[in-house]
Amino acid sequence: MGLPYFHINGGNRLRGTVRVSGAKNAALPIMAASILCEGEIILHDVPYVADVLSLSELLIKLGVDVERRPDHSLRLVVRDEMNSRAEYDIVRKMRASICVLGPLLAKRRRATVAMPGGCAIGDRPVDLHVRAMRQFGADVDLVSGDIVAKAKRLRGAEVFLGGPFGSTVLGTANAMMAATLAEGITVIEMAACEPEVVDLADFLNQCGASITGQGTPRIVVEGVPELKGCEYRIIPDRIEAGTFMVAATITNGELKLENCRLDHLMAFIDRLAAVGVKVERADAAVTVASVRHLEPIDVTTQPFPGFPTDLQAQLMTLLCLADGNSIITEKIFPDRFLHVAELNRMGARLRKEGPTVIIEGVKRLVGAPVMASDLRASAALVLAGLCARGATRVNRIYHIDRGYERIDEKLRAVGAEIERREGDET
Ligand code: EPZ
Repeated sequence: MGLPYFHINGGNRLRGTVRVSGAKNAALPIMAASILCEGEIILHDVPYVADVLSLSELLIKLGVDVERRPDHSLRLVVRDEMNSRAEYDIVRKMRASICVLGPLLAKRRRATVAMPGGCAIGDRPVDLHVRAMRQFGADVDLVSGDIVAKAKRLRGAEVFLGGPFGSTVLGTANAMMAATLAEGITVIEMAACEPEVVDLADFLNQCGASITGQGTPRIVVEGVPELKGCEYRIIPDRIEAGTFMVAATITNGELKLENCRLDHLMAFIDRLAAVGVKVERADAAVTVASVRHLEPIDVTTQPFPGFPTDLQAQLMTLLCLADGNSIITEKIFPDRFLHVAELNRMGARLRKEGPTVIIEGVKRLVGAPVMASDLRASAALVLAGLCARGATRVNRIYHIDRGYERIDEKLRAVGAEIERREGDET
């Protein structure tokens, strides 16, 4: 029994229609918000990815019944509130588990959540989360790797979420969830504006919360006595959509993407347009047509509505084939470049200078065995394999399964030669 890997024969032009799944990064905090609610919650269009499974297991340990149904819907109901501890062995595998901190503290008045530590894309500090919980009046201590928090009742507060790299997406989620049941008004300054934060706020309001300003850097929450479960559909995954836009372009193909919100991808589409790629809305879908000549460009990752860090690696793969030199600067996770060495193994000419990578365009990439490291770097290597001459083997694809649902099946359905195999790591 070996490790799973992708075997890809490059060169096929992708053509056809792909349905974009629900957004993993919207589903995770919304699932965590079930801790706040009385009664049943039904979530539709939940992507069946490993991260959703991991959070489901954690929520079950926290006394939430989680039922996964065949139609991509989840049914969640809080059964008991005895356990409020998120163990290290779960948190170290998925840092997003930190988003149970706010709900546990607000609803159960206590929480013990392991500190996430670092990961492939760099440090994952939670100082802004901790500071926000303290501003709600909680006692929060760091005890041998755990965040231990308790409070009689949370009080509405002025919470500032600005850090050295801008705001914090899950920090905003935690602060917003804690504020829904806190006493009085909370103002969250320098809140994250990502669509996934807006989706969480819209879900909480449907459960009876009183949140305004979501999608802007200033969110105002008026505490309410309780929240009731509701039925809700998760927004489409803008990162998966962007990944498939690159797949269409890099293979000189043409894809129609269903369940895709262009308003969530304006900065990405702006950069694709500068490269020369046409992205058009066509009857509630989006068509991406490739171009022969790819213009080199400069890109800097920013908090939403800027260029998303989660699409940095995928765009880098495309720019490897541009006619000239491009520059990518990573302002959110400055170490998020583990895909650089692997792409160079495939004939790319990338040079890292601190938080910047200089990309010298080459005529083509050549297939090789490569190693996935984090979720989005893995996607970048699959994209490289789709256009490389010869065969590419992407090892450690458990990284990609964390955030993309059946990506090999979706790619095969539009003409890619990609297979999921098992074998010893080479
Ligand atoms: C969310 O992570 C996403 N994950 C990430 O996507 C995404 O890359 C990131 O936001 C940025 O958009 C989920 O939503 C589950 P942050 P999050 O807190 O919230 C620093 C993927 O591929 N920071 O917005 O953990 C931090 O070090 C994943 O799907 C502090 O300094 O990211 C980083 O430099 C990867 N102190 C920056 O802020 C804190 O307390 C942004 O981090 C928190 C964060």
